[in-house]
Amino acid sequence: MSTFSAPPETPATALAPANSAIAAAVREGLTAPRKSLPAWLFYDAEGSRLFEQITLLPEYYLTRTERAIFQAEADRIIAAAFQSWHQATGDGQPTPDGAGRLRLLELGAGTATKTGILLAAAVRAQGETEYLPIDVSESAIAEACLTLTETLPQVNLQPQVANYVTDDLAIALHDGPTLALYIGSSIGNFGHDEAVAILRNLRAQLRPGDTLLLGTDLVKDTAILEAAYCDADRVTEAFNLNMLRRLNRELGAGFDLSTFRHVARYNREASRIEMHLRSTRTQQVSIPSLNLSIPFQAGESIHTENSYKFTPDSIRHLLREGGFAVTHTYTDPQNYFAVTLATVAA
Ligand code: TRP
Repeated sequence: MSTFSAPPETPATALAPANSAIAAAVREGLTAPRKSLPAWLFYDAEGSRLFEQITLLPEYYLTRTERAIFQAEADRIIAAAFQSWHQATGDGQPTPDGAGRLRLLELGAGTATKTGILLAAAVRAQGETEYLPIDVSESAIAEACLTLTETLPQVNLQPQVANYVTDDLAIALHDGPTLALYIGSSIGNFGHDEAVAILRNLRAQLRPGDTLLLGTDLVKDTAILEAAYCDADRVTEAFNLNMLRRLNRELGAGFDLSTFRHVARYNREASRIEMHLRSTRTQQVSIPSLNLSIPFQAGESIHTENSYKFTPDSIRHLLREGGFAVTHTYTDPQNYFAVTLATVAA
């Protein structure tokens, strides 16, 4: 191993317990022969703010395309979720006392800006609607709740700050259908095995007739894909570098941000955009709170993110492995993005 232990007087126990998951992930990722950091580390308050900016960039077609699909299909999506429940349970529409209402649950809700379209459709169909946003970012979820309280008062909010990647989900029981949302192609930020584990973690909280709406970016021309992750205004670069700023703040790490460059390239064999932070020089970066000093060669990089691109076939296979069966696929005229509705497989 190419790391050394800092002297014993280094306060290795000074970390707050909340940072222990971060510490473990950073230790594992930066001491591996090929360095990496997990994508969930992006989403501190600043990272969540930068991510919202990414979704507004002209090059970043994903968000506006998925939003357009929701705008065109929201009422049909809600109807299809009820239909799936009806087929599995025989239950019809909700009764006037509210029994049998559809609730929405969302993994990685963020500020839930697109979710409002689906919530509004659920409110049109049944009036009051329960919504359970789950996200690692407390600031993002607080903003989501603030906005929704003002714009959709018929929505009952039950927010959860949780990491659905590292922790088992714990969702309250419900006497009607649940429509789970996992949108924004967030599933594409995980490798196959982790993606399957996330789907199974969710699946374990659902019942036959419940549904999942999955948003996925589709395979397309390399230039279009790469531009989406390397924008002219360099917002994606700031987002990527913010991960190092977070480690400096929360772990007392000594990353000099001016010595790392943002790199994004499409790997067609693996069907994924790969994002890296490349060290421009040979250097050692110390992380005293972890008793680590991390050596970098000039040109060596930290792999910070993958963004997998899908085909209708790869979506179906992934869902099948996660315990879901596809019932409907919605896409845009250019076939840039897919929104897939799947039911809990028997
Ligand atoms: N899941 C989306 C995507 O892969 C959003 C996203 C996550 C993203 N991490 C990102 C976008 C990093 C840009 C850079 O596109």
